[in-house]
Amino acid sequence: MADERKPVTVHELLSMKQRGERIVVLTCYDTLFARLLDGAGVDILLVGDSVNQVLAGADSTLSATLDQMIYHTRIVRRGATRAMVVCDMPFLTYQVSREDAIRNAGRVMQQTGCQAVKLEGGAPIAETTRALVEIGIPVMGHLGLTPQSVHALGGYRVQGRDEQSAGRLKADAAALEQAGAFAIVLELVPAPLASQITKALTIPTIGIGAGPACDGQVLVLPDMLGLNEQFTAKFVKRYAALAEDVREAVTLYAAEVREGRYPGPEHSFPK
Ligand code: KIV
Repeated sequence: MADERKPVTVHELLSMKQRGERIVVLTCYDTLFARLLDGAGVDILLVGDSVNQVLAGADSTLSATLDQMIYHTRIVRRGATRAMVVCDMPFLTYQVSREDAIRNAGRVMQQTGCQAVKLEGGAPIAETTRALVEIGIPVMGHLGLTPQSVHALGGYRVQGRDEQSAGRLKADAAALEQAGAFAIVLELVPAPLASQITKALTIPTIGIGAGPACDGQVLVLPDMLGLNEQFTAKFVKRYAALAEDVREAVTLYAAEVREGRYPGPEHSFPK
């Protein structure tokens, strides 16, 4: 078992893969949940650009901004003592030029206190990954369904189903590992392909809709807590039904306020 008290580092994640110990990852967007997840032993808090959809109501991650990601990553970092905090680099902050990528990822590291950044894409961003790693910024890769390319991919669909795209995914994973990425998210990839990629790499894979053979798993927090009732997907397991709990609590509060039952004497100051 990973030492519960030691902060999670890139080296610890590699050791966990070598020991066959699964890595637990959840997305996180604020201090309140960061404290809860960190306390519950989650290894990595991923400040995903999914925040733009899940909390900010946008219909994709494409309009997420660097300032938005810096804000959320900074407040997640405040609540994390053991877990590694990883910030998703938003669309167009690392694709235009290597200089841009270094400046933007450097700003994220300096202004948030997070331990790593995540970039979407394979071979085409391998050299950018290498440049960041060389100046001391740990990089997590992201392959398969890469949401920043949703329009090019024709929607949120499983990737790597045919031989050619499966081959490309394997080559992309190898390119990211060679460039120095410390882990790779595999999103919406057939389980047997994710298993082959996981076996071929020395760095851990973190699956989301990629089957059980990955070295770790990630889910979007409001999805697994049942807070985001609009979103359903085959790979999401709901571990709670918090939207129902919230509705029930708020309905009760509203009734008590309207009927004059809240606040009671125990909630009031006599003098
Ligand atoms: O933005 C995000 O939440 C992500 C995860 C789904 C991996 O990238």
